[in-house]
Amino acid sequence: MDLKNKVAIITGARRGMGRTHALAFAGAGAKVVVSDISQEECEGVVKEIEKSGGEAIAVKCDVTSKEEVDKMVQAAVDKWGKLDILVNNAGIVDFKPFVEMTEKDWDKMMEVNLKGYFLCAQAAVKEMIKQKGGSIVNIASVEMGQVGGGMPGLAHYCASKGGVVAFTETLAVELAGQNIRVNAVSPGAIETPMSEAAQDNPDLLKQTLAKIPMNRMGKPEEVSNLVLFLASDAASYMTGSTVVVDGGWLAT
Ligand SMILES: NC(=O)c1ccc[n+]([C@@H]2O[C@H](COP(=O)([O-])OP(=O)(O)OC[C@H]3O[C@@H](n4cnc5c(N)ncnc54)[C@H](O)[C@@H]3O)[C@@H](O)[C@H]2O)c1
Repeated sequence: MDLKNKVAIITGARRGMGRTHALAFAGAGAKVVVSDISQEECEGVVKEIEKSGGEAIAVKCDVTSKEEVDKMVQAAVDKWGKLDILVNNAGIVDFKPFVEMTEKDWDKMMEVNLKGYFLCAQAAVKEMIKQKGGSIVNIASVEMGQVGGGMPGLAHYCASKGGVVAFTETLAVELAGQNIRVNAVSPGAIETPMSEAAQDNPDLLKQTLAKIPMNRMGKPEEVSNLVLFLASDAASYMTGSTVVVDGGWLAT
């Protein structure tokens, strides 16, 4: 899983799994654009990468803004002359009973979790076509990234993640002829700031663990290993796949 001479963009990389993806990619030799809504926090991750001998730049980008997304891709090209890998990771979650869900709640979820993936993928693909190849990894979720993952209070989130899988398969089919592979990763319950509610509430944690045969939440690094594999040439015959990393959740 060597990423030497590869240039990668990771969205939502100031913390959580985006951060560990950025560290893993840099550790495998990639030049990494660490991107998120806070320039300062992205710079913190860049410093961590540089400390361990890696190469990275921080680029502030709200994935819902086409202008900022285009600038992020341009920043990679300006710095290193190309773009090989995009990890669409930036996402939000928000628990709301379905009948109380507002149009604004719904639109915000779709704006970040789906439109953001579209904007980033389109800008990246335009570069990848120029250089005749690339790899995209979209982060979905067991919560409706697959059949069997529906969860109360997450109608909008689950719909967005189901959309990510459909988006992934369609891009994979459409772009295979251009040597661009597109895969998705569906994490289960992973210890990040996003899942703090489950980690900090003993009842909720018990309910969560009851679904997981391995009886623990996953570490962000355990997802990064899979994202790195799919992004790398080691996965050269994989496209259109959604791979689950969930401690056995969906197998039950
Ligand atoms: N933690 C879990 O249990 C879990 C499970 C399944 C899937 N996921 C998915 O994994 C991905 C990473 O989540 P995480 O758990 O690391 O959560 P996190 O909240 O720690 O990280 C998400 C990152 O996305 C960024 N982000 C949000 N809106 C953005 C925007 N408009 N533009 C740019 N960046 C934005 C946030 O600033 C944050 O840094 C998400 O797509 C999430 O849906 C998480």
